[in-house]
Amino acid sequence: MTPPEHTSYGFQEVPIDEKTGRVRHVFARVANKYDVMNDLMSAGLHRPWKDAMVARAAPRPGEVIIDMAGGTGDISHRLHDAIERQRSRRGGEPAQIFVCDINADMLMAGVRQDTLTPYATLPRVQVNAEALGFGDASADLYTIAFGIRNVTHRAKALAEAWRVLKPGGRFVCLEFSEAHPSLRALYDRYSFAVVPKLGQLVTGDAEPYQYLVESIRRFPNAPTFEQELKDAGFERTGFRRLSAGVVALHWGTKPKSGAAAQ
Ligand SMILES: C[S@@+](CC[C@H](N)C(=O)[O-])C[C@H]1O[C@@H](n2cnc3c(N)ncnc32)[C@H](O)[C@@H]1O
Repeated sequence: MTPPEHTSYGFQEVPIDEKTGRVRHVFARVANKYDVMNDLMSAGLHRPWKDAMVARAAPRPGEVIIDMAGGTGDISHRLHDAIERQRSRRGGEPAQIFVCDINADMLMAGVRQDTLTPYATLPRVQVNAEALGFGDASADLYTIAFGIRNVTHRAKALAEAWRVLKPGGRFVCLEFSEAHPSLRALYDRYSFAVVPKLGQLVTGDAEPYQYLVESIRRFPNAPTFEQELKDAGFERTGFRRLSAGVVALHWGTKPKSGAAAQ
């Protein structure tokens, strides 16, 4: 019998069919404190990073938007606000923004927070990024913030993003990346000595935050991930490092004609 294929789960190697369940469990444990921890861990920096993502995504009225790994809906809210600002000036149809996530606890934490807000009507879809229920060529924009790192088969998720986008559709991803060498020692000390302790203090659970800082180190650097986008068939790819490379914004476009890369 051949041994099971393994993959990284943070710094551990786990059987490949266990990773998705472990990741789901990690986010279920932190769902209710997810947003407050984001502010604490990043000292609020996740806000300008996400604003930069939305500016790059340039969402427009009437578009169909898939916010993958959308969690509690932070990116979807910003996309919604950007579109409503345009609609209040120039009119146009509302957009359809789908908050998609594999984890029902994250989606439900968002639903609870969004009660009595303009975001309450955003549809939430529980789905694995690797196997979407959306039809071919059905979306104008696919966003994924701090999600692609957690997916077991990244190439499958990128192939699905490509499939569901219309020709000319935009893919925009925000993800942790490789900090500039001058910052690395300090960043590593903060990541490994402070972040899990902060997690323990705020959520009563250090392990999800240990996974977070380890999984960041396992994610490819920006040029390597850009190549993965090209391999998936995206064109006009690019990236921009933010905060000395702590995170990177990636983008690509589905060609107006032609087939997916194999
Ligand atoms: C760090 S959170 C990001 C949430 C949100 N995008 C944000 O930036 O605030 C990562 C999310 O990815 C989701 N996730 C992990 N693996 C996934 C998968 N295979 N398919 C869809 N979502 C996934 C997790 O459940 C979690 O909600």
